[in-house]
Amino acid sequence: MAHIAHDPDARPDMRTTHDLRVVLPRTAEVRGDRLFIGGVDVVELAQTRGTALYVMDEAHIRGQLRSLISALRSRYERSEVAYAGKAFTSKAMVALVGEEGGCLDVSSGGELAIARAAGFSMKRVVVHGNNKTLLELVEAIDAGVGRIVVDCFEELERISALATERASTQAILLRIAPGIVADTHEYLQTGGEDSKFGFGIASGAALDAIRRALDAPGVVLKGLHCHIGSQIFALDSFAKAIEVMADLIASVRTETGFITEDLDLGGGLGIAYQAADKPSDVEQFAEVITSAVKREFGARDLPLPLVTVEPGRSIVANAGVTLYTVGAVKEIPGIRTYIAVDGGMTDNIRTALYDARYESILANKADQPRSTLVTIAGKHCESGDVILIDTPLQPAEPGDTLCVFTTGAYNQSMASNYNRQVRPGVVFVKDGIVREVLRRETYDDLMRCEV
Ligand code: LLP
Repeated sequence: MAHIAHDPDARPDMRTTHDLRVVLPRTAEVRGDRLFIGGVDVVELAQTRGTALYVMDEAHIRGQLRSLISALRSRYERSEVAYAGKAFTSKAMVALVGEEGGCLDVSSGGELAIARAAGFSMKRVVVHGNNKTLLELVEAIDAGVGRIVVDCFEELERISALATERASTQAILLRIAPGIVADTHEYLQTGGEDSKFGFGIASGAALDAIRRALDAPGVVLKGLHCHIGSQIFALDSFAKAIEVMADLIASVRTETGFITEDLDLGGGLGIAYQAADKPSDVEQFAEVITSAVKREFGARDLPLPLVTVEPGRSIVANAGVTLYTVGAVKEIPGIRTYIAVDGGMTDNIRTALYDARYESILANKADQPRSTLVTIAGKHCESGDVILIDTPLQPAEPGDTLCVFTTGAYNQSMASNYNRQVRPGVVFVKDGIVREVLRRETYDDLMRCEV
């Protein structure tokens, strides 16, 4: 059984909710002793809708999308933001992305199906995946998606054959592994040479893939894609990737005459999970990206491409919180105090998987200092099922509403039914109105696939 190491730096924290500003949803505020998001009392929400429950601040999501799009376009007109659906997808989310003028990055047939059901413009969809199945390729081509990002030679051949059979042409990008190791958790790094994703440059695979794509019938090579990782704080990693891509694009022009029209730089902008984190904002990100593209393409006398970025986390992570009800308080003298809640690794696998850290408060004691040090445990049958380790919290009692911040990205989307737990619902809150976008599962849902 996993032993949960103590955090030697952990201390009770005399600060309260306001001091956690950097992780709070934009509309979060404390009224009396309670936390409100989107003008909605989250304690009441927990009591009336049940817990665990994901709550998302719609104004925050819209604001992030809007400010990133305008930060990019004000500096570089030909730019697009393709929201990475893997961070959190539902029909309502996809519709919102469309309303805000975003494109959509889908990474599976399932995400594409949701985008179609939401009526999202297929021309504005970018299809990802390092091993798309034949069926997924057929679905994408038949749906008329704007771009498929090709990850391997086999896929190039399959798309070429499928499009030729249909007497159509499919626009593609090639995914390049630029050999950059970004400063993030090892599991979240994707752009290094030793990666299952894309075509490496040093090995010559990238140039070979470009040549083959230019010759392949049924496909039109529009340009190149790279994604160096996720939760990246050092913006110079992006600038470095752009430099490497510009080098490649320049040498490809010399070797083949091919001019890259589209440059898709993937996602990865890091965000604050803890109050002490100091991430870059979208303005800084947009400045680094657009100035690097202008500089590196200019230096090589390359025409400026259409630039796409694919943020997931930075759009939705801080917008979302998870609400739980405290069930038990177990004090083990001299060791630690466990606060057990009605969810856990099924709705938040990130602590167990990446050692992720969060901030939390008791939403019904939101005005009080977090004067105790506790470990928040889930309800599942594993010692490693913890959500926060040695974290400051207001003194907890059964019935309190625990609110864990920054759970809008990769929490619902990585949720599971372990222990046959039903997955929580998702509500959007805005201007005092609660909109259910995914309902909580029921036992019938658990049995839906039984034959
Ligand atoms: N584009 C591509 C091709 C990607 O692979 C990803 C994320 C993104 C865009 C969006 O990256 P973001 O802006 O969200 O960092 N489950 C992990 C994150 C895995 C990210 C995978 N790819 C987590 O919970 O932290």
